[in-house]
Amino acid sequence: MSSRREFLKTVVGGGMAFSVVQLPWLSACSHGGTTERQPLVLPSDFAGGMLIASVLPDVSSGLGTQPWTFGGRTPAPTIRVRKTDTFSAQLLNNLAEPTSIHWHGVLAPADMDGHPKDAVAAGASRTFTYQIQNRAGTYWYHPHPHTAVGKQVYLGMAGFFIVQDSEEQALGLPAGEFDVPLMIQDRRLMGGSPGYAVTPTDIPNGYLGDTITVNNVPNAYHEVATGLYRFRLLNGANARIFRLMFSDGRPLVVIATDGGLLDAPVSTDTLWLGPGERAEILVDFSKDPMGHSIMLQSMAFGMAGSGGGGGHTGHGGGATNTELPQGAAVDVIRFDVKRAASSAGRVPTKLAVLEKLDPSTATKTRTFELAMREGVTTGLHTINKLLFDLARVDEQLPAQAVEVWDFKSLDDGNIHPMHVHGMQFQVVSRSSGPLNANDLGWKDTVLVFPMETVRVVARVGTYPGLYLLHCHTLEHEDDGMMINMQIM
Ligand code: C2O
Ligand code: CU
Ligand code: CU
Repeated sequence: MSSRREFLKTVVGGGMAFSVVQLPWLSACSHGGTTERQPLVLPSDFAGGMLIASVLPDVSSGLGTQPWTFGGRTPAPTIRVRKTDTFSAQLLNNLAEPTSIHWHGVLAPADMDGHPKDAVAAGASRTFTYQIQNRAGTYWYHPHPHTAVGKQVYLGMAGFFIVQDSEEQALGLPAGEFDVPLMIQDRRLMGGSPGYAVTPTDIPNGYLGDTITVNNVPNAYHEVATGLYRFRLLNGANARIFRLMFSDGRPLVVIATDGGLLDAPVSTDTLWLGPGERAEILVDFSKDPMGHSIMLQSMAFGMAGSGGGGGHTGHGGGATNTELPQGAAVDVIRFDVKRAASSAGRVPTKLAVLEKLDPSTATKTRTFELAMREGVTTGLHTINKLLFDLARVDEQLPAQAVEVWDFKSLDDGNIHPMHVHGMQFQVVSRSSGPLNANDLGWKDTVLVFPMETVRVVARVGTYPGLYLLHCHTLEHEDDGMMINMQIM
C-alpha cells in the first residue's frame, strides 16, 4: 500500500477537480452538510410478522423529507436470526408503486430473493419464508423493483439483517451496546431539493449526496465508553464509495467482510467500502481520555485508484449536482468518549473456520466485461454488451459448482461495485495491485476500479432459479447494468 505522503502528492500532482485537498487526519472541515452534529440513532429490532412498506407522514428522521420505510421505522428494523432458523416475514406494500424485498447476501430460494419479476404491486402483500444457511454476519435488505431501486433505497428503505451462529457466539465479541450497526449513506440535504430527482449527470456519476448520514442521521456522533467496540459497517449509499480511516490514524481491525467472519483479525489503517459492501471492525477506545473525540472519515481518492493503494491519477469524476464529488474527503461519524467501560474487551487472535476456495478446482471461467456505451444518455452501462432484460436468461450455472469469474472493466471513468445474488465468492486477484483488507473472506460485492480486472472464485448457490448479477451503484443498476443468472 502506498503511504499517505505518496498518496497526497499524487492527488495534488494529478490536478484533482476537488476544491479542497483536505488532510485526511484533520477533522476540521467537511464539505457540505451542516456542521452541527446529531446523536446517532440505533435501529430497533424486527419483532416478526409484518413489514409494511410505507411513506412516513412526518419529518421524523432528520432527512429533510418524508422517508419511505419498511416497518414504519427509519432506519428499517434490524432483523436478527440464527443460522438454521426458519425466517419468515410478510411484506405489505402500502406505497403507491411496486416494491419488493431483496435479502442482500442472504442465500434465499430464487422465488424469495426479490427478483424484479416478483415485485409486489401497490396494495398487495407477499410472504417470505426460508431457512437461514448463511454464516454469522452482517447482511441487509432493501427493495429491488425494476428501475426503482435507487429511488426507494435513497428515500429510506433499507435495514440490517444480522445472522448469528454458535461459532461466532463462542468468541465473546463485543455485544449489546458495544455491538453497533452503522448504515453509511449520503443524501442531498443542502441544495433544497428533497426527494430523489435523477438528472443526466447522475446516471454516470451515481446519485451523490452532499451530507453523510449514518442510520439516517445527518452528521452523526455517538457517545462511547472506554471499551472495545464491534462496528458493523454497511455502505448503503446509492453511489458513494468510502475509504475509511480514523482521524488519529488508529487501526481498523477487520473481523468480517460481506459473508461473515475472517479466520483471524486483519489490522488496516484504511478500508474501502463500496455500495452494498459490509465490513465489521473492532475499535478500541480503552486508552482514550474521557472527553476525547475521534472522527471516522473517508479520505480523498482519485477515480482511477487501484485496489491496493490510493489514487494514481484522477479526473475527479466530472461535474455533479453536488458539492461533494465521488472521492472527496468527508467526515462520516464522530465518536465521543464519555464513560468508563466496566471491562476493556479483548481482540481474539483467531475467529472462525474459513473455507478457502481453490480457483484451480473451478469447472468454468466466465468473463464479465463492464463497459459504457457511447452517444446515449440512458442505457449507458453494460455487462458483456448487454442491458438488463427481465425476460432474458444471460448465464446458466450448475448449482454448487466452483467457478472463476473475471470482472473486466473497460471503463476508465467509474468504479463499479459488482454484486451477485444467491451465492458468495472470494477475491483471488486484482490486476491493479494487492488485495484490499475488505477483499478477504466471503464476499457478495466487490469494487472493480477503472480498467481493472478483478478475479474471484465463486461457489454457485444451492437453490435453482433466477438470480441477478449487477453493479450496486444503484443508478447504474437501474440504468441496466444487470444480468440474469440462472442456477440449474
Ligand atoms: Cu443489494 Cu441486487 O442488491
Ligand atoms: Cu443482493
Ligand atoms: Cu457501476
